[in-house]
Amino acid sequence: MCGIVGYIGPRDATPIILNGLKRLEYRGYDSAGLAVINGNKIEVRRDAGKLNSLTELVKKSPLTGAPGIGHTRWATHGEPSGRNAHPHMGASGRVVVVHNGIVENFLDLKNELIAEGIEFKSDTDTETIVHLVEHHQAVGLDLTEAARQTFNKIQGAHGIVLMSADEPDKIVCARIGNAGGVVIGLGKDENYIASDIPAILEHTRDVIFLESHQLAVITRNTVHIETLDGQAVTPEIHSISWDAVSAEKGEYRHFMQKEIHEQVRAITDTLAGRVDFSKSRIRLPELKLTPEIAKRIQRIYITACGTAAYAGMVGKILIEKIARVPVEVVIGSEFRYSDPIVDENTVVLAISQSGETADTLAAMEEGRKKGALIWSIVNAIGSEAMRISDGYISMQTGPEIGVASTKAFTAPLVDQYMLAILLADLRGTLDDEARKSLVADLRLIPDLVSRTLNSEPEIEKVALVLKDIQHCLYLGRGINMPIAYEGALKLKEISYIHAEGYPAGEMKHGPIALIDEEMPIFCIAPKDPWHEKMVSQIQQAKARGGQVIAIATEGDELVQGLADQILWVPDTPWMLSPVVTVIPLQLLAYHIAALRGLDVDQPRNLAKSVTVE
Ligand code: AGP
Repeated sequence: MCGIVGYIGPRDATPIILNGLKRLEYRGYDSAGLAVINGNKIEVRRDAGKLNSLTELVKKSPLTGAPGIGHTRWATHGEPSGRNAHPHMGASGRVVVVHNGIVENFLDLKNELIAEGIEFKSDTDTETIVHLVEHHQAVGLDLTEAARQTFNKIQGAHGIVLMSADEPDKIVCARIGNAGGVVIGLGKDENYIASDIPAILEHTRDVIFLESHQLAVITRNTVHIETLDGQAVTPEIHSISWDAVSAEKGEYRHFMQKEIHEQVRAITDTLAGRVDFSKSRIRLPELKLTPEIAKRIQRIYITACGTAAYAGMVGKILIEKIARVPVEVVIGSEFRYSDPIVDENTVVLAISQSGETADTLAAMEEGRKKGALIWSIVNAIGSEAMRISDGYISMQTGPEIGVASTKAFTAPLVDQYMLAILLADLRGTLDDEARKSLVADLRLIPDLVSRTLNSEPEIEKVALVLKDIQHCLYLGRGINMPIAYEGALKLKEISYIHAEGYPAGEMKHGPIALIDEEMPIFCIAPKDPWHEKMVSQIQQAKARGGQVIAIATEGDELVQGLADQILWVPDTPWMLSPVVTVIPLQLLAYHIAALRGLDVDQPRNLAKSVTVE
């Protein structure tokens, strides 16, 4: 969740760092700070609150110089405050650190350091890092070696960046485990460090992704990388294709609204190069799926968190229906402690927009430990999930900045649909006619999504009516049951309204007692195999005075005659219907939150990537 930006070169680091941190705001944070080396000393400015507080502080008390490092902090140890904000300085005032992650053994380390007479100025685990570095420097080690000793001593997952006034020609950084990325941007006679690409994209497209247990020594014109135990590493240089604008809002008020509308492009891009419509074949080369592997798979666990898990629930139905392979969806935070039944014929398929979600990564590692084949569907290029997978499908949607996931929900629905077809094709369980029909349906999707988005003005009107509700239910069945969960999550996480997704068939077993005039019910009732059941669900809700807002297929007069409000979607092949039924719910949540004047892109307490347990 925290953001890191570093710069080393001939220019003043302060504006570069502040602008870079601004582009990382979406990651969610509650304090911010920066440090620069000015002549022979380190200057630090930091404060609780958002970046504008820090910018005001810098205006009042300017600091210039280079190199420099900056940080936005999402509090884990120690409340959000100036004294707990990063960067943290050591006792000597000559070394400074910024850090993502949690030093899991910080209490032992802190007690050892206090016993040596070190005085801690904050409640953070991070401060132990800089005192440990100084502890090793005191016996004659330079910054790099002192940092290495420290990195090998701390436990947990980290992204760490250090600099010293005594060695102002370098910045030392490291990535340990999965606490968000460490990206090195390569400039001309200057170099950059960031926890995520958007922070440095305006300066360079050439980047190196630090891998776990690697450290880097960066000067203004060299980058030296090695493992924590000293093995030199020749890094791969990636060229990032997205432009800086795509990480900006464009003509939309919020990133979330922009990304909802980008779904036509995102789905077109996730299909790009993967569907041969003339031969009705699917190609997913990064998955490295061979007929031999396809034939021996006996079980697939889909593991993910939040919205990504709901995408996996749709994927389960698609893979079981098309490829006839048993699939179980287990949320990341449960999978890692469930002692799952796994063997070499098991696949663990992780779905993750950021590719850095701690619970999902831990689930992948649990699967790896037990001998499973590890696949992932990931959006962030170079992320840990992508790196630790045996094969992956990139969502290819471009950066998703809004904390509430939208295009990174619909893209994996299509990716899993393609995976199911490929798996069935390689297992020889899909006849030509069925395959041709399923592949042909993919061609329809971008236009169906575009038509659904065109109903935004009607949805805005419904949002105006519902903007002050306090509670509501979302009901769905079959392949659209996960859309009930996802629709409810979208509303609750950005509008703070209590919204509950529920299997429609379960209502009569208790929750129907909730229904009265005060409880709006969203019924997802497109023309799919569960349509008839949903119609009777709507009738049951109406019979108890409930206010029903139905998601219905254009022209469905039966549902129109029953529901109080209708959000129309175009007629869509049922296996792809969740791609369109979710869109009115995304737009409704967005407009209700916007009408409530809330921070849609950075809802309270949330972060774009939950890189801690
Ligand atoms: C969804 O809107 C939320 N932001 C959250 O549930 C998110 O989907 C979840 O934290 C998983 O994130 P990931 O896809 O980056 O792993």
